[in-house]
Amino acid sequence: MKLAVIGGGSTYTPELVEGIARRAGTLPVEELVLVDPAADRLAVVGGLAARMLARAGRPVTVRTVSDAGAGLDGALDGAAAVLVQLRVGGQAARLSDETFPLACGCVGQETTGAGGLAKALRTVPVVLELAERVRRRAPDAWIVDFTNPVGIVTRALLDAGHRAIGLCNVAITFQRRFAGLLGVEPGRLSLGHVGLNHLTWERTVRLDGTDVLPRLLDEHLDALAANTTLPAALIRRLGAVPSYYLRYYYEHDRVVGEQRAAPARAARVAAIERRLMELYADPALDTKPALLAERGGAHYSEAAADLLGALLGQSQGVQVVNVRNEGTLPFLPPEAVIEVPAWITAAGAAPLPVPPVGPLLAGLIAHVSAYEQLAVDAALRGGADRVTDALLAHPLVGQAEAAERLARELISEGRAHLPWA
Ligand code: G6P
Ligand code: MN
Repeated sequence: MKLAVIGGGSTYTPELVEGIARRAGTLPVEELVLVDPAADRLAVVGGLAARMLARAGRPVTVRTVSDAGAGLDGALDGAAAVLVQLRVGGQAARLSDETFPLACGCVGQETTGAGGLAKALRTVPVVLELAERVRRRAPDAWIVDFTNPVGIVTRALLDAGHRAIGLCNVAITFQRRFAGLLGVEPGRLSLGHVGLNHLTWERTVRLDGTDVLPRLLDEHLDALAANTTLPAALIRRLGAVPSYYLRYYYEHDRVVGEQRAAPARAARVAAIERRLMELYADPALDTKPALLAERGGAHYSEAAADLLGALLGQSQGVQVVNVRNEGTLPFLPPEAVIEVPAWITAAGAAPLPVPPVGPLLAGLIAHVSAYEQLAVDAALRGGADRVTDALLAHPLVGQAEAAERLARELISEGRAHLPWA
């Protein structure tokens, strides 16, 4: 089985390689092709990947490809799955996403609000072009998207008719944390996870079928509050555990104040990445360094490797993924993309039924879902008016003056990566 990883020079790649290394039985990868335009990073990351697989005794051929022409075609030929983890514009573009909205009093974040829209606009065209290459060279391959904003990128891929599924590590991270608090094996817990990518709540936590969320809220509320960086009283009020991305909504103005007073996350990430690349370059290193745990993507290897195993017919099971709504949440259009538990087989992801969602959550989900629809349209067709409309529809922007000004700034900051600007 052949896997291609687009953005394979990412410092996250050893995370994924670890997941592959651990699953000889359920993920029989024979060839791993890492694709990245940054040949220097790719050589370093590819070297570590090969050493990690050798240490694990896995006979996997690791290849690296940095040309976007025939090299990319060869990387895709015959691939069973293509993982997309690229970052258009690198950490410099992320720094812009995290800072330009602040001048309007809006949160600076790379996946939500105006910054998230900026990332969507520069990312969707690149991922769609890649997906067309996949369609030509590996028409049966699954495209698994980790590239943010995952909900918007997945929706654009599905709209264009690709075999795509979006993946995020928020749910699996909660599963691991809840298991730690309860002192049980993570596999015994299943989450009542609902919402959109980076806009989700855990409404139930089933331990061998019995909902233990009330117990978690009674016995571990402070730990849950610390995990989500949200007030304990708010979690109690919701009766559900929101992801930490909900803090950008429930504590928006407070976060803006903090962001104005501190360096952006992009600066910290750039420093971690520099150090990681130094560590990866050490020919004696053949495991994932502990420093990688300081990135937000913890456990992504587990989620990715499990999902691939199921999509490639090696196992079946329930996983939280980004899929078409198709009536699962009746208050959203069928074509919306939602993040919910789904039954995964080689035929794809079938969302499990979701108990009714009350207006406190449904209102925000519907609001952001409508924004995502406009964001896809702006990414495909461009233009200041479509960008402004998307920002007007986003609950974290919403005001006309801010939407117009942020649209202008987003376009001028992002011009180099916007095909229509
Ligand atoms: C979480 C999210 C990812 C995101 C990451 C950011 O894992 O689910 O979608 O990319 O955090 O982490 P970073 O270390 O880049 O701030
Ligand atoms: Mn995510």
